[in-house]
Amino acid sequence: MNVLVLNGPNLNMLGIREPGIYGTQTYDDLEDLCHAAGAEAGFETVGVFQSNHEGDLVDAIQEARGVYDGIVINPAAYTHTSIAILDALKAVGLPAVEVHISDVDSREPFRQTSYAGMACFARVAGEGLQGYAHAIRMLAEHLEA
Ligand code: DQA
Repeated sequence: MNVLVLNGPNLNMLGIREPGIYGTQTYDDLEDLCHAAGAEAGFETVGVFQSNHEGDLVDAIQEARGVYDGIVINPAAYTHTSIAILDALKAVGLPAVEVHISDVDSREPFRQTSYAGMACFARVAGEGLQGYAHAIRMLAEHLEA
């Protein structure tokens, strides 16, 4: 089993960016957490990719086909705007879990629409960086079922 963890814009700024919302851990810490959680959940390969560019995320989703068994995705701000990411997830048909560091549902109204989430079988939000470990475990359980 192989998992791809995808991260959208500004997540490379973790640790610097609004620490009251996103915490003080860095993007490198997040990568380490995903590799450890993926290995613990039984994934052989844990790909972790971040981009600030919508098209790069669409490319990464398309290229996941035939390589990865599932996707954990935090599209960040593109969650709330990107039909292209929704369509890419639907196109490849890989099982996907949506993850958000913050509790998007208790924030501004514009964060309460999720296009990508319409192609995901589960969502984790408001659990901080540990939410990625939770999402990876959910994906593993889904693939094993
Ligand atoms: C986020 C929530 C989004 O609304 C925001 O644009 C982000 C991060 C989160 O992980 O909490 O960049 O996806």
